[in-house]
Amino acid sequence: MAGQPSSGHGWPGTPVIQGNMTAPDLPDLADVLAARARIAPYLRPTPLHGYPALDALTGTRLRVKHENHQPVGAFKVRGGVNLVSRLGTDERQRGVASASTGNHGQSIAYAANLFGVRATIFVPEDANPVKVESMRALGADIVFHGRDFDDARERCEKVSAAEGYRYVHSGNEPLLISGVGTYALEILEDWPEAEVIVVPVGGGSGAAGTAIVARAVRPSIEVIGVQSEAAPAAFRSWQAGELVTAANTTFAEGLATRTAFDLPQRIMRELLTDFVLVSEETLAEAARTMIEKTRNLVEPAGAAALAAVLADPARFAGRSVAIVCSGGNISPAQLTALWPAHRGP
Ligand SMILES: Cc1ncc(COP(=O)(O)O)c(C=O)c1O
Repeated sequence: MAGQPSSGHGWPGTPVIQGNMTAPDLPDLADVLAARARIAPYLRPTPLHGYPALDALTGTRLRVKHENHQPVGAFKVRGGVNLVSRLGTDERQRGVASASTGNHGQSIAYAANLFGVRATIFVPEDANPVKVESMRALGADIVFHGRDFDDARERCEKVSAAEGYRYVHSGNEPLLISGVGTYALEILEDWPEAEVIVVPVGGGSGAAGTAIVARAVRPSIEVIGVQSEAAPAAFRSWQAGELVTAANTTFAEGLATRTAFDLPQRIMRELLTDFVLVSEETLAEAARTMIEKTRNLVEPAGAAALAAVLADPARFAGRSVAIVCSGGNISPAQLTALWPAHRGP
């Protein structure tokens, strides 16, 4: 694939991932193109909009990739539909299980519903009720467990092994990464002038998929990942070149993990231009700004890309910057917390 390091498909990396599975092949542009054909009957391309008020505020030519317009309000559904559509008969009969703070779970629930597969989603006890209700309405069984994503994930992995479910890890799945990479294809087709794409990172599937597409289609494009200072496991792992854990106290549950995931990390290490952290205050400011200037509902994680631009204006000034609004599933409590006292008209 053009612009990729010479090692090509199956580039070097750690051979073993969490658990005792062997490392899957690294997805490439061909996988993303195949994913696009597979998901096209179910998911429409999302809009890429510019907002003069955001351009004026940031001093850039900014376009927002509206993944909040997906049927479940987040980009993850591209990966879920891609993966579940490819399950074998045996896996469909066993049912799928996954752990999530909500958007990956909605993605799997949506796809399972589409293809008539039973889904069990493990969520932290304080999971966003908007996401939980959506997963239930899609027919998923919900299991509340633990204080955060990683508690729920560990429980899900144990129960899946015991019950024989097809466990779907939220990052170590090539079909999820190639599925979500389809939004990057849409950005590059809709806006050939794009110079930079900024992507929110939790586990890193979105950033990995974007980097695969950008490097292959137009290697000069910068792909910048952004995570919260209050949950920097992926950032620190990317910097260290090995998987490390970190505290997780962010209010942006879409970015909230204590661990880093092997497969997206291997891809990000090779292909990501840069990775930055933003403060929780900047995330909150970016969420308010996105809602006010785009008149869209945006959840905190979905505002992280704008937060990166607001945090470092000089880096982006005068450039054509695509920011991925990865999700819009904000809860009433989160909205209230963003505007504790309404400050006038
Ligand atoms: C809205 C939103 N943005 C960003 C992310 C991070 O995505 P990834 O885990 O692919 O890095 C998530 C993950 O669930 C999310 O829900």
